[in-house]
Amino acid sequence: MNDELGLDVAQDTRSLPELGHRNYWYPLIESSRVGQKPVAVRVLGEDIVLFRSGGKLGALADRCPHRGARLSDGRTLFPGTLSCGYHGWTFNSEGRCVAAVLEGPESRLPPKVHTRAYPVAERFGTIWAFIGDQDPPPLDEDLPPEIKKPGAVIYSYFEEWDCTWRNVTENFADSLHTIYVHRGSLLMLFDKVPAWGSLAFKPLPDGKGISIKGSSSMTGDYRGLGKYPARSWWRFHASKKLASGYDLRMPGYIVITRATPWLNFPTVSLQWPVPVDSNRTSMYTMWLTNPGTFRERLLHRLWYVGVFQHLLHGFVDQDRRIIEHQTYRDPEKLSASDVAVIQWRRTAYQLARRGPEAPEVPPVAGAKPVPVEA
Ligand code: FES
Ligand SMILES: [Fe+2]
Repeated sequence: MNDELGLDVAQDTRSLPELGHRNYWYPLIESSRVGQKPVAVRVLGEDIVLFRSGGKLGALADRCPHRGARLSDGRTLFPGTLSCGYHGWTFNSEGRCVAAVLEGPESRLPPKVHTRAYPVAERFGTIWAFIGDQDPPPLDEDLPPEIKKPGAVIYSYFEEWDCTWRNVTENFADSLHTIYVHRGSLLMLFDKVPAWGSLAFKPLPDGKGISIKGSSSMTGDYRGLGKYPARSWWRFHASKKLASGYDLRMPGYIVITRATPWLNFPTVSLQWPVPVDSNRTSMYTMWLTNPGTFRERLLHRLWYVGVFQHLLHGFVDQDRRIIEHQTYRDPEKLSASDVAVIQWRRTAYQLARRGPEAPEVPPVAGAKPVPVEA
């Protein structure tokens, strides 16, 4: 089925893999949640056990090669290792079996057994893992340049959504919805919010995504129906929310650089939909700023903890309520306002790091690129 932009719609929805892009680093869980006890996580449909032992962080496939018990039900018996809770096969953080407890210390079994180990890292108070089949690049390769400045104050949290990650990443591209869905949010309560608009995009300088900008009109006269929106006397703040733009990066997260509302500190926010399985997403939200002085630091903390995080939650929940009931079941009817969604699907398809085991995805028939307006 072709739409007016010459796009093969059915083909295009498959350009974002159901279980996410393999061969990228993903944020998994807050560092503080992995202590003495092993922790089970699922990401891109893979079950992983995280454990700390002998001062090391390990991430292994959460299935014991012996008889399939979950390693996350095990415990640490020896420093630097994790032992299965069923018969005590014991693994180090490289995935090598180093003991089979019930077979005794002289067992010749351990050197013959190996399980999958995932590359892991800890940054920003978060545990990250590389999920894929290729050799991992450094974690920095998959992070935006905006968050690498030292001395930043960071707040972050995870939240599980009942939906596919694809709807979430496409919701980022589809930023026109902001002035429609979020106009009643507390975060935009005093903003003069445009009625309608259009989007344009260009590739990011580092080639790892696209940057999207919008232009908008404050009112619309819809023939035979009337004007929209109704005037609201309490909206006095000139909103730049659509015009300021943002970046969408592989493997599918959004980076917004702006000033903290009212306090005016430059801040960077990140929302990263991490696929759990085909219909669940772990949403990682990070809010980062670089306050110069102690006073600024304190102000920002009070502002974030006391006010802003609640406004942000309310704002994001408006997306969640829609996205959790959205479906890819039937063909879409895409139109001019969907150029950024189309371009994002196309870009993601082109940039994806495909491992040797990745299924072939047919090439995407793309929409015509639209230049970014000055
Ligand atoms: S199932 Fe893990 S040691 Fe037996
Ligand atoms: Fe939204």
